[in-house]
Amino acid sequence: MAEEGTVDWDLLRVKAAEAMQRAYAPYSKFPVGAAGLVDDGRIVSGCNVENAAYGVALCAECGMVSALHLSGGGRLVAVSCVNGNGDALMPCGRCRQLLWENGGPGCQVMTAAGVRTMAEVLPAAFDGNDLDDFTPPPRI
Ligand code: THU
Repeated sequence: MAEEGTVDWDLLRVKAAEAMQRAYAPYSKFPVGAAGLVDDGRIVSGCNVENAAYGVALCAECGMVSALHLSGGGRLVAVSCVNGNGDALMPCGRCRQLLWENGGPGCQVMTAAGVRTMAEVLPAAFDGNDLDDFTPPPRI
């Protein structure tokens, strides 16, 4: 996992702000951009995409995770999300789950209070290990 000092947070914030400019947020008027550093050095990004059916809006992190897989996969090691002012935005609960799946507990997230790990922002997370722990009962 990348050490905190090795992450170019300024660049990640710039990439997130660029993505934010592409947001489609006519309903909330709250554009969001996300950018993630991948373990091979790539940077992937995404913007929020809303819908007249409000509940199916796609968060910026959703687009970023799709871009991660579309461009070759890998693991997220650092993520920056920004609002329309370019300020750090805390990923919503659902998106913390997405970041956990694709970055794990050591993935770093820039918050308004500084860099935090996913283990800090999503403690006691549910993940694939919980699925492995389940033994289906025998069929009668
Ligand atoms: N939003 C994101 O894109 N990411 C988050 O982590 C928080 C919320 C979007 C969803 C919606 O389009 C708008 O922000 C207002 O909630």
